[in-house]
Amino acid sequence: MAGLLEGKSALVTGGASGIGRATAVAMVREGARVAVADKTADGAAETVAMINSSGGQAIALAVDVADEGAVQTMVARTLDAFGRLDCAFNNAGIAPYHVGPGGQRTHEMSREAFDGMLAVNLSGVFLCMKHEIAHMLGQGGGAIVNTASIAGLVGLATAANYVAAKHGVVGLTKSAAMEYAQDGIRVNCVNPGYIKTPMTDPGMARRYEQLMTRVPMHRLGVPEEIAEAVVWMCSDKASFMTGACQVIDGGFYAA
Ligand SMILES: NC(=O)c1ccc[n+]([C@@H]2O[C@H](COP(=O)([O-])OP(=O)(O)OC[C@H]3O[C@@H](n4cnc5c(N)ncnc54)[C@H](O)[C@@H]3O)[C@@H](O)[C@H]2O)c1
Repeated sequence: MAGLLEGKSALVTGGASGIGRATAVAMVREGARVAVADKTADGAAETVAMINSSGGQAIALAVDVADEGAVQTMVARTLDAFGRLDCAFNNAGIAPYHVGPGGQRTHEMSREAFDGMLAVNLSGVFLCMKHEIAHMLGQGGGAIVNTASIAGLVGLATAANYVAAKHGVVGLTKSAAMEYAQDGIRVNCVNPGYIKTPMTDPGMARRYEQLMTRVPMHRLGVPEEIAEAVVWMCSDKASFMTGACQVIDGGFYAA
């Protein structure tokens, strides 16, 4: 049976780890060729080695999504390798502790921690969309999934920079969905709850029990549980889905 993404060419940012890696692997399983892009070039190469050793077709690209020139080059290299860009998963992201001490209330947060977060988690998504869409318009369509978060839909104390960036991703997604609906380009976001990845490992060591009281399923998700939805959202099966926020969170948002 043909895979959900048979013959398609895809780009995944943040593909060196966690949700991005699991999604790149799932996309290849469903028949796609995948460009795996990440700031951590070694990690992207590891993902690609995993894929290619099991018979898939992937390339590794180094990118800082906050750098427009690097994003432009990332899209151009994907096109050089595969000739098309059918699916893009704009997923690279950082946590508050990557740009400051983390765990701070709004009045304690530095301007640098706020701007540093927005540069990656919001402007990074904007830059990727801008250059992906410019190409997709020329080829007659495509599907984009951005990684937002439950933090794109609700407030979380002591993470104002992260929450603001993820709410911004939801806004970018909805606006682009409206702008390109007539061009065959679908734009959606996925809103994961707490997922077990290297990003959440440090916080979970301290706050697992406390956080799980807010999750009806009382467990963390795993990256593969996000990947399966993203693959489907990128596929032609999701042909009437655009501008949507797909929550996958063990019930957090419903509670
Ligand atoms: N893990 C969770 O609980 C959770 C929940 C909701 C949303 N998210 C979002 O999911 C996405 C993936 O996170 P994850 O949990 O897999 O974390 P992760 O740390 O395992 O993966 C994130 C990847 O993004 C890369 N990256 C960071 N900054 C970059 C940059 N400037 N340019 C290119 N690559 C960069 C990292 O090197 C890393 O490989 C992020 O956008 C995150 O905000 C995660």
